[in-house]
Amino acid sequence: MFIVACTNTPDKVKAQDGKTIFKSFCVTCHGIDGSLMTNGAKDLRISTMPIEERIHVITNGRNIMTSFGSTLSKVQIKAVAEYTQTLNTGSGNGN
Ligand code: HEC
Repeated sequence: MFIVACTNTPDKVKAQDGKTIFKSFCVTCHGIDGSLMTNGAKDLRISTMPIEERIHVITNGRNIMTSFGSTLSKVQIKAVAEYTQTLNTGSGNGN
């Protein structure tokens, strides 16, 4: 059963929203496919960082990377963290 509701709950983030968030906040350093590595940003195509750690890095920042804990909601951070995992091309250690 499909019910198309016209809800606009800010807490409900669709999977594709991670991509939108990434394009808005992350491409300046990471590039559209995660490989830009501006300012020493890690190549997200080969990152095997677990999801919890990604959420931590995005929320609190690390070294040059800015924190997004006050810019994005927890749900948005989780969505974009999950999106960064999809950028992995498997050229790292195969995980
Ligand atoms: C100002 C530049 C900058 C921006 C903007 C930025 N990052 Fe980063 N990011 C970095 C740098 C630099 C590192 C490496 C941090 C370190 O020294 O460990 C990093 C590391 C990461 C890592 C860890 C990768 C690994 O394997 O260590 C993730 C995940 C990540 N960024 C995701 C994001 C996401 C998602 C966004 C947008 C919400 C974002 N970044 C925005 C610069 C940036």
